[in-house]
Amino acid sequence: MTPAIDVRGVWRIYETAAGYTPALRGVSLTVARGEFLAIMGPSGSGKSTLMNILGCLDRPTTGSYRLEGIEVSDLSEDDLAHVRSSRLGFVFQSFNLLPRATVLRNVMLPLVYSDLPPRDRELAAWRALRSVGLPEEHYLHRSNELSGGQMQRVAIARALVNDPTIIFADEPTGNLDTATGEMVMRTFQRMQRRGKTIVLITHDPEVAEWADRTVHIRDGRLFSDEEERSYLAGLARAEAADGPSREGAGASSFSPDPAQRRTKILGVPCL
Ligand SMILES: Nc1ncnc2c1ncn2[C@@H]1O[C@H](COP(=O)(O)OP(=O)(O)OP(=O)(O)O)[C@@H](O)[C@H]1O
Ligand SMILES: [Mg+2]
Repeated sequence: MTPAIDVRGVWRIYETAAGYTPALRGVSLTVARGEFLAIMGPSGSGKSTLMNILGCLDRPTTGSYRLEGIEVSDLSEDDLAHVRSSRLGFVFQSFNLLPRATVLRNVMLPLVYSDLPPRDRELAAWRALRSVGLPEEHYLHRSNELSGGQMQRVAIARALVNDPTIIFADEPTGNLDTATGEMVMRTFQRMQRRGKTIVLITHDPEVAEWADRTVHIRDGRLFSDEEERSYLAGLARAEAADGPSREGAGASSFSPDPAQRRTKILGVPCL
């Protein structure tokens, strides 16, 4: 079966008044259908940039991205919007709900461009809310009358209402306490059992443990668990031997040496 996500050699270089920022540097990643993947990395490492590309909210500067077998890196804006609305669901750290609209209306929002009659939209929203375990007594409440955990479950229901095949979540537990975060993670786990592919970004190793597999992003490059361990061990060895000024000298294949970085950046065809 074709993978849900197949990314090859993706670079994303932001162009600003201050110059070029290579936020992704040759990222390759395959996610199987039905897999639950966690992406971890420090602030500024490129997590949201990668998520925006995987979620078809942005396009790679170079490289290929096949989503369920379709090459999406050069689709038009309209075609990308269609891929997003028919196949993808999104959950964010800050919930992004309309505070004064009811829970039901918030969940119906992604269906605004669908051909479904209003009654069916309401039914779809009702089903999505039931599937995330939110009690029915809240469906007609305004979303700002809910707790953080309830708000996030509404946001997950909104991500599910289109029946997407892949759900992207960017720090979905970042604003929640541990117990509430666990409840939200159980909801993702249930979605995986129903056949959804889940890609989740987190800073928190305990949250990442809910996933089948974790990849690490540092300085715009992806590492497996094992590569990350050897990269960090290399940094620690170099620091112990020479002090922090030669940071990274021990991590031969992923050396963050500035001269090497410049060569690679300039090696990208678009520059
Ligand atoms: N729109 C943009 N224009 C220019 N540079 C950007 C833009 N968005 C991100 N960057 C830069 O790209 C790099 C990666 O940013 P990104 O937002 O992907 O990091 P992140 O890993 O999501 O960080 P955080 O954990 O803080 O959310 C950073 O150096 C950032 O300054
Ligand atoms: Mg981010």
